[in-house]
Amino acid sequence: MFLILTDKIRLLLTEQSMKTQLDYLTTLGIESWQLNGIPKKEILPENSSWEKLREQVAACTTCALHKTRTQTVFGVGNFNAELMLIGEAPGFHEDKQGEPFVGRAGQLLNSMLQSVGFHREQVYIANILKCRPPENRDPQPDEVNCCTPFLQKQIALIQPKLLLAVGRIAAHYLLNTKQSLTRLRGQVYSFGENKTPLLVTFHPAYLLRNPADKGKAFQDLQHVFEMLQ
Ligand code: URA
Repeated sequence: MFLILTDKIRLLLTEQSMKTQLDYLTTLGIESWQLNGIPKKEILPENSSWEKLREQVAACTTCALHKTRTQTVFGVGNFNAELMLIGEAPGFHEDKQGEPFVGRAGQLLNSMLQSVGFHREQVYIANILKCRPPENRDPQPDEVNCCTPFLQKQIALIQPKLLLAVGRIAAHYLLNTKQSLTRLRGQVYSFGENKTPLLVTFHPAYLLRNPADKGKAFQDLQHVFEMLQ
């Protein structure tokens, strides 16, 4: 069953905690839903680990990127997500808005998700780096080392059923390899102590430059969808 949360239903639900809302929908037999016009502000679950982590990220000055950022970009989405997407680093728009994948690449990512029936609100999206590298250059190894404990903690809190590495930088970090993305696609890897299944796909910014590969990205997302059924 599919439910669109209208303003009216949302008014009935806003006084309850996020968890109660989800329990309510589950009780009604509604397994998937689309948030319609919900304000962007995130409701953190009643779990102080999330709040602490967000504060730590916002206050981080461990690497030089804090000097050039507008703000940190923590992550966004469903804290109970089965699917967690991991990108590279915030770009211009993400740095301004404080949310991952909100620029042109983000719009394409949303369409890619929708093409196989996922909605952005269903999944959790985070980046390897929480601060924008100047001129969108590749993350430096020291920046990755400083920042990835935050990502590790996000993965541990979400406990997704599946991880999707979005692009070369994310794939290289998560799989500890330097192989080309073309070679890494199409296989199921296992990540971390929980052996979380992990797939790799193209970065949407790459697909904007190389639209001929969009079909392959669609196949990757179909694979993701099938694995979560
Ligand atoms: N590219 C990424 O890898 N992450 C973003 O958040 C935006 C663009």
